[in-house]
Amino acid sequence: MKTKEEWNALAFAYSRTPFRYVARYANGRWEEGKLTERAEVVLGESAGVLQYAQTCFEGLKAYTAKDGRIVCFRPDMNAKRMADSARALEMPPYPEDKFLEAVKAVVAANREFVPPYGTDASLYLRPTMYATGAVLGVKPADEYEFRIFASPVGAYFKGGIRPLKLRVSDFDRAAPHGTGHVKAGLNYAMSMHAGAEAHAEGFDENLYLDAATRTFVEETGGANFLFVSKDNALVTPRSSTILPSVTRRSLEYVAEHLLGMKAEERPVPFAEIGSFSECGLCGTAAVISPVGEIDDHGRKISFSADAPVLMKLRETLTGIQRGEIDAPEGWLFPVV
Ligand code: PLP
Ligand code: COI
Repeated sequence: MKTKEEWNALAFAYSRTPFRYVARYANGRWEEGKLTERAEVVLGESAGVLQYAQTCFEGLKAYTAKDGRIVCFRPDMNAKRMADSARALEMPPYPEDKFLEAVKAVVAANREFVPPYGTDASLYLRPTMYATGAVLGVKPADEYEFRIFASPVGAYFKGGIRPLKLRVSDFDRAAPHGTGHVKAGLNYAMSMHAGAEAHAEGFDENLYLDAATRTFVEETGGANFLFVSKDNALVTPRSSTILPSVTRRSLEYVAEHLLGMKAEERPVPFAEIGSFSECGLCGTAAVISPVGEIDDHGRKISFSADAPVLMKLRETLTGIQRGEIDAPEGWLFPVV
């Protein structure tokens, strides 16, 4: 057993847990899935995932709640988004009810790796779908695999909660009418070069602008933006080319219904962001991470380093996730 300090020291990195859930798609249908201890995937050299990146994934967490239950946060939203991603990539959507059963099975089988209540760590679940069928011409494969594996994780950004430094990217993440709104592996492959360059220059992440006009805020490689206006409204970018973050949509509800704030989801011109008092990133991995500074080609835009409004939102959201604050109907999915 790990100590509380050891759980809290976990990085956001893969560590192998004993069980994963795997289902195969062949002959036009999903077969019954099952738990397996085999973490390796054997693929033919011409598998669609290897040749044409026909793959999508999800990310969600299991927590130990205050009352000892193990819960996931809104996994139905991940099930639906994964089905949307699959359709966008001409893959057969995995049934949403079966997705929830698989979540339950994987967490229950790996329950000793769910960090205890009172730590900052959680068990990260990574549902993944990939084309295993052989292709040579550009076309959808006819065989697929669905898999959920689990890995205990800590904070996504090294150093925990600290004001992040971002730069405005000269690369684009997603094209209009492309795949920016789904969780396709190819979106992340696209972001590797920009991400490596940002890190080499001392930044934590990139802020991507909309590819068509380069005037609106989109998102980062792995999280949506949150802004707080001077009159304390939560302002979040609306765009058809960003991932519809479960965390962001939940925070909009929390701000409006639990904290009595105004929540505005709308296109956010980059030229406006200097007028906001707080800026942060949100996502399953990022939770809510405050942004202290955005560098626009040498011009620095600063935000409150302790981000009190965003920290209140973070406290409320994590309080809901850990069963300390009553969750809106259907938000907590008991697993064990
Ligand atoms: N945006 C991108 C590009 C992401 O990869 C993620 C992570 O899943 C998010 C936003 C946040 O989404 P969610 O809150 O559903 O985890
Ligand atoms: C998540 O937040 O679950 C993601 O998939 C983002 C990824 C960059 C780790």
